[in-house]
Amino acid sequence: MDLEPVAGTIGAEVKGVDLAGPLRDDLAEGLRKALGEHLVLFFRDQQLDVASQKRLTGAFGELMAVPYVEPLADEPYIVAVLKEAGETGISVFGGAWHSDFSFLPRPPGGSVLLGVEVPPFGGDTLWANQIIAYETLPDDLKAVVDGRGAVHVGAPYGVKHAPASDLRLSRSIHIQRGDPEADREVVHPAVRTHPWTGRKALFLNPIYTTRLEGMSAEDSRPLLQRLYEHAVRPEFTCRFRWTPGAVAIWDNRATLHYAINDYDGQRRLMYRTTFAGEEPY
Ligand code: SIN
Repeated sequence: MDLEPVAGTIGAEVKGVDLAGPLRDDLAEGLRKALGEHLVLFFRDQQLDVASQKRLTGAFGELMAVPYVEPLADEPYIVAVLKEAGETGISVFGGAWHSDFSFLPRPPGGSVLLGVEVPPFGGDTLWANQIIAYETLPDDLKAVVDGRGAVHVGAPYGVKHAPASDLRLSRSIHIQRGDPEADREVVHPAVRTHPWTGRKALFLNPIYTTRLEGMSAEDSRPLLQRLYEHAVRPEFTCRFRWTPGAVAIWDNRATLHYAINDYDGQRRLMYRTTFAGEEPY
């Protein structure tokens, strides 16, 4: 297995690996180690079917069904992330900086995304390294987040913070909204420790974090704004150009990601699976 970093602080392309077959224990161990180090791994030209994608995902943690997003019929662990060519001027799934489902008591440990149909240009995905983001925080912001909790809410799926009713959303990915349960506040540490490496990462979510613990949303806003601006500095990011059969595996504990919505008029279809994580500490 060859690893080639794709940017200065995050992401590596893995070469010489066929992900479709059963994964030998030493290969799975090598991939977990590489993911812990690089936080996102990329592979080209893989022949993954649904069974092999689930098997691959299970090598990183227990397969997990995600809430609020309708999976493929008969495949509760696979979400089709789809935007049709005819869906223009709409928001896309994941089209803002976020980590996945941080409002859950045990947010996912990571995800696997397979490019099925990709546009000839556009539709790239970005990731940002939250370990480097934490380590390079200015002292005043470090003092804000160290030892403090942050409040996460499943805002887009609930009632209190529901998206504006005139927001045009994709019809191709079915998301359940208006669930009062999703308004529940969950507190996680604003800085978490990665269980695989012991490294500390900033754990704030521009979509789901509503405020810092012990502060109002209004008082938190300017601090969160500065923290988010720092968290996604270009130096902490990488960008992946999708091709059919490409696979990305990312760590959801220590990264943010962003699906770029710049391919109106083209179809984009991805299959996504998720593996479980632990209660952040
Ligand atoms: C997501 O999981 O947030 C979507 C990623 C993508 O479609 O590139």
